[in-house]
Amino acid sequence: MTLIETVHDLRQWRRKAGNHRVILVPTMGALHAGHTTLIEAARKMAGAHGQVAASIFVNPLQFGPNEDFERYPRDLDDDLTKCREAGADMVFAPAVKEVYHADRSIKIIETSLSTKLCGASRPGHFDGVCTVVAKLFHLFQPDDAIFGKKDFQQLAIIRRLVRDLDMPVTLHGIDTVREADGLAMSSRNRYLTPEERLQAPALRQALLAARNARQQGVTGAHRLDEIMRDYLAKHAPLGRIDYVEIADARTLEALSVVQDHGLAALAVFFNEARLIDNIEL
Ligand code: PAJ
Repeated sequence: MTLIETVHDLRQWRRKAGNHRVILVPTMGALHAGHTTLIEAARKMAGAHGQVAASIFVNPLQFGPNEDFERYPRDLDDDLTKCREAGADMVFAPAVKEVYHADRSIKIIETSLSTKLCGASRPGHFDGVCTVVAKLFHLFQPDDAIFGKKDFQQLAIIRRLVRDLDMPVTLHGIDTVREADGLAMSSRNRYLTPEERLQAPALRQALLAARNARQQGVTGAHRLDEIMRDYLAKHAPLGRIDYVEIADARTLEALSVVQDHGLAALAVFFNEARLIDNIEL
């Protein structure tokens, strides 16, 4: 597996890959089984001749002023071992100054999907994601790119980015990988205290309660919302709800009545750690 740290070397690597299929898995590192599942899926897709590339870059543009950019976990050696074991051929791990010019003045702005759900409480976050993903797509020129459905809104926005800017990349979404107790794996889970960690599976349980209710015929979003909030109040008293929402999985618009394509999504703070999860109803 090759480690590349500069744009110059990345371009050279891409020229060498030529017509072989290139599959990209963008990450911010602190890798866990959620990330390695994406890389393993890429390996399967790429076959023997395709190239599997992962990027590891904590993107400052997608962090708000009071968010955890500085203390976001970084462990490149461990990440490289995990990438190698999962079947990556190459890892691009650039420094911030390699990616962003000090006087950069262009960014990508998404004006619809990013105003909802996580976007409402993280202004500018998805513009930062779109900007870095567009740059990665330009640099790697991948045939395919793989993202996790844990970040359902992010995937929806990147689909829009690719469609609206005519990027020749096929996107793939992978189901959320979870701990044994149902908690969605996340690099931010390590911020949790032992007591918070015990309560965190309530996010998943609350979503399952909403899905059960939906399957039993409840269609009112207000009622489904209430079921999730009640569950969280009871089982995750250390959590502070950022949002709980029933939305259309295609447009991310809030729904009042769920028919098909319902999505339940939530974000909960445990002190500094903001955890998210979602379920298709
Ligand atoms: P990061 O949070 O590191 O996640 C990288 C990829 O792994 C994303 O596609 C995310 O959805 C996926 N992922 C994370 N946890 C997962 C889990 N438990 N199961 C399945 N997939 C999971 O998302 C980002 O980085 C950044 O915003 C990025 C796209 C790299 C742009 O900076």
